[in-house]
Amino acid sequence: MAPSSFFLAFFLLSCVSATDFPVYLNNFTYVCDPSRLSDLGLDVSNFVFCNKSLPLEARAKDLVDRMSLSEKTQQLGNSAAGVPRLGLPSYEWWSEALHGVTSSGRGTHFDQAVPGGTSFPTVILSAASFNASLWKNMGQVVSTEARALYNLGRAGLTYWSPNINVIRDPRWGRVMETPGEDPFVVGTYAVNYVRGLQDIEGQENPKDLNSRPLKVSSCCKHYAAYDVDHWYGVDRRGFDARVAEQDMLETFLRPFEMCVKEGDASCVMCSFNKINGIPACADPRLLKETIRGDWGLRGYIVSDCDSVQVIVENNKWLGDSPEGGVAQAMKAGLDLDCGWPYLSYYSNYTLNATKIGRIKEADIDKALINLYVLLMRVGYFDGSPSFKSLGKDDICADVHIELAAQAAREGIVLLKNDNATLPLSSNTFKNLALVGPHANATEVMIGNYAGPACRYISPIDGFSAFAKVQYAMGCADVACASGSLMTPAMDLAKNADATIIIVGLDLSIEAEGRDRVDFFLPGHQTHLVNEVANVAKGPVILVVMASGTIDISFAKDNPKIKAILWVGYPGQEGGRAIADVVYGKYNPGGKLPVTWYPADYVDQLPLTSMQLRPDDELGYPGRTYKFYNGSTVYPFGYGLSYTQFMHQITTKVNSIDVKLKSRQYCRDLSYEEGEYTTPQCAAVLVSDMSCDKQFEFEVDVEVRNTGSVDGSDVVIVYSRPPRGVARTHSKQVIGFERVFVPKGQTQNVKFVFNACKSLMVVERNGYSLLPSGIHSIIVNDDEASTPIQVNIH
Ligand SMILES: *[C@@H]1O[C@H](CO)[C@@H](O)[C@H](O)[C@H]1NC(C)=O
Ligand SMILES: *[C@@H]1O[C@H](CO)[C@@H](O)[C@H](O)[C@H]1NC(C)=O
Ligand SMILES: *[C@@H]1O[C@H](CO)[C@@H](O)[C@H](O)[C@H]1NC(C)=O
Ligand SMILES: *[C@@H]1O[C@H](CO)[C@@H](O)[C@H](O)[C@H]1NC(C)=O
Ligand SMILES: *[C@@H]1O[C@H](CO)[C@@H](O)[C@H](O)[C@H]1NC(C)=O
Ligand SMILES: *[C@@H]1O[C@H](CO)[C@@H](O)[C@H](O)[C@H]1NC(C)=O
Ligand SMILES: *[C@@H]1O[C@H](CO)[C@@H](O)[C@H](O)[C@H]1NC(C)=O
Ligand SMILES: *[C@@H]1O[C@H](CO)[C@@H](O)[C@H](O)[C@H]1NC(C)=O
Repeated sequence: MAPSSFFLAFFLLSCVSATDFPVYLNNFTYVCDPSRLSDLGLDVSNFVFCNKSLPLEARAKDLVDRMSLSEKTQQLGNSAAGVPRLGLPSYEWWSEALHGVTSSGRGTHFDQAVPGGTSFPTVILSAASFNASLWKNMGQVVSTEARALYNLGRAGLTYWSPNINVIRDPRWGRVMETPGEDPFVVGTYAVNYVRGLQDIEGQENPKDLNSRPLKVSSCCKHYAAYDVDHWYGVDRRGFDARVAEQDMLETFLRPFEMCVKEGDASCVMCSFNKINGIPACADPRLLKETIRGDWGLRGYIVSDCDSVQVIVENNKWLGDSPEGGVAQAMKAGLDLDCGWPYLSYYSNYTLNATKIGRIKEADIDKALINLYVLLMRVGYFDGSPSFKSLGKDDICADVHIELAAQAAREGIVLLKNDNATLPLSSNTFKNLALVGPHANATEVMIGNYAGPACRYISPIDGFSAFAKVQYAMGCADVACASGSLMTPAMDLAKNADATIIIVGLDLSIEAEGRDRVDFFLPGHQTHLVNEVANVAKGPVILVVMASGTIDISFAKDNPKIKAILWVGYPGQEGGRAIADVVYGKYNPGGKLPVTWYPADYVDQLPLTSMQLRPDDELGYPGRTYKFYNGSTVYPFGYGLSYTQFMHQITTKVNSIDVKLKSRQYCRDLSYEEGEYTTPQCAAVLVSDMSCDKQFEFEVDVEVRNTGSVDGSDVVIVYSRPPRGVARTHSKQVIGFERVFVPKGQTQNVKFVFNACKSLMVVERNGYSLLPSGIHSIIVNDDEASTPIQVNIH
């Protein structure tokens, strides 16, 4: 989506005047408002599409049938023209709300009257909370602000968020936008954030889900296998991701499947890249057959901004003309084409494509009906009385800002804490030296697809609530090209009770259109940390503000650096959250959602190789905790607390019996050579199984807080396939839960799993199999485990 915010800012400054913002219906009017129509000289009773007692699909069809072919084609781009003679206003489809409503979409703007919205931490940090109810809560707050902005005429009802591409490789420039490297965690984030944005309380499960009313529409993107932006000249616009079916099903598609099937998202956005030679937005198997057919999408499919143009101009796919490209995409199932800044291939070329017979008018109608049914579901045609009262006071409301602070506190990960140096006591540590390029971070904390924010609480602001703060950046900026500013920072450290060093990256290093090439801190940042730590009088606390995966082994191993915190890009309240954690007002419980590889990882395999499994021939290590078995700086799921937790599995898991029915049979499963004997019946095909209750099993985990302070713990449950199954994951996340446990107490966490989903492996050819034999259920880093036997007979 959208070029980097740099370009967007440039574009907004240079080409758009205030009057260029889209005009939405506002002042609580709606398309079928009788008085609005009569002001236009139209009579609502003539319009079947306004008859609320008819099914939405019939209404949408009536509207589309009233349009001429040329009018129809003007509605297929993100800036839909509307049809004045039918009382249908123009509509800008493109709004964004990745972690707060933001002006990064064409459809949303802020101004003096409404200067900003609540800006939550970037997604990678909220993901680290492993708290599904937080994710849903954030979605609810964001959609409340979105509805308020819509009422004020400053935003649309259709949001192209969240970004749920799995982080296959942390060099990707958009890691901050996503919920991590595990497909199940990413999918769970998607389900909860989407439900927070879309669901209207009490109306989640109506009889007819096709007409379920929505608070706003949410869109899961970018479908699929998209996580190369710009790396050594390889650009997403021409990139052909070569993806094995196994990786496609196991990793790249899974979050999207969860988003549509469990989240009931009303939109999916297809990506720029090709997949095995076919542009994602022109592949009928991926769009029509999978999203609509297999998963049953209720909603629309939109292109990433310009990807239809890219199909023709960059990919030169099939050597097609613009009309041909438009036809391919529409036939594949693409309903709406986003063009950036103004150009939409659909609105320009669909008319001629129809005239020359490449597209049937019926295909256009189908796309438009999908679009109008959706706009009816968000109340655009009939109004939304329940959101009528939302207005300016609901944007940046205190409770929203508090949730932004809470999300940051919950996400922050404590990576090191020698001798329980943290938390600092404000009685002892009264004079702080705050140094490093992010010591006074403000906008940096909100990352991309963000802002303007309600306000910024910088680290200086945050720490000033606990201590007297003295501040020296030590570097001119994040690039830290020179060491010449180190001395003042060192001088402060020599005298302070404690020294906080805040280092990291920003959008000049990692961003849309900008992948990383190494895992080091830029320029002299490492040097600065070492020099300051060397002379500091008091304890040194290192705070890393970046998406993650930085090789900070130097700090991990340096005894002078007592504690390390990873804070992602912590959002508008970031400085407060960091200080609350350092001074013990909040006990950190976040866990890393991405593996932190050592720096030499980048030399071992190119960003452009899509495979997750190791390749011995090419010498590639695997990717993510599931397939990488080398050393790490910090592993996936890592994170400390100010207290200690003990875990115990208290249920005895029964074995699972699969009795083969007449049409089922034993499937082969390859085993590694050596000591392993292949079981008599190695596996059964999951799609042959009923997958009902008889395959469920319960796992109860007891969490005991054995330390001296209250705290929140994240219980991550993994399954591990039977020993010897060849080329499969070493383990996979099957469930997680964040729980609060007061000191000295225990909490029980109950999980219910289904063997079909939780014990399956994806075979080389893409089939999901349930292997027989002894699987393991593991809690966190092998702290507790229990075997579970699968018998197939
Ligand atoms: C909304 O209505 C009020 C009063 O009728 C008017 O003053 C205001 O300009 C309208 N706002 C917009 C955005 O049309
Ligand atoms: C709306 O549709 C219903 C069902 O077809 C019909 O009975 C009713 O008369 C229609 N209302 C109007 C105002 O046309
Ligand atoms: C999860 O997040 C919610 C906020 O939505 C918070 O109230 C709750 O305390 C969090 N749970 C834990 C265990 O931290
Ligand atoms: C539309 O197509 C015409 C003819 O190819 C081209 O000149 C023009 O730039 C296009 N405009 C847009 C907005 O796509
Ligand atoms: C559509 O076709 C007409 C007639 O062939 C041509 O004049 C016009 O430029 C075409 N429009 C676009 C956008 O290509
Ligand atoms: C903790 O402190 C003790 C004594 O003060 C010291 O011997 C030990 O090495 C310290 N441990 C760490 C990990 O710094
Ligand atoms: C911190 O940054 C803010 C905003 O950029 C600036 O106004 C303020 O002066 C800075 N504070 C210090 C102590 O430099
Ligand atoms: C890691 O995987 C490689 C490649 O499959 C294998 O050769 C090696 O033995 C494994 N190392 C460990 C420690 O398991």
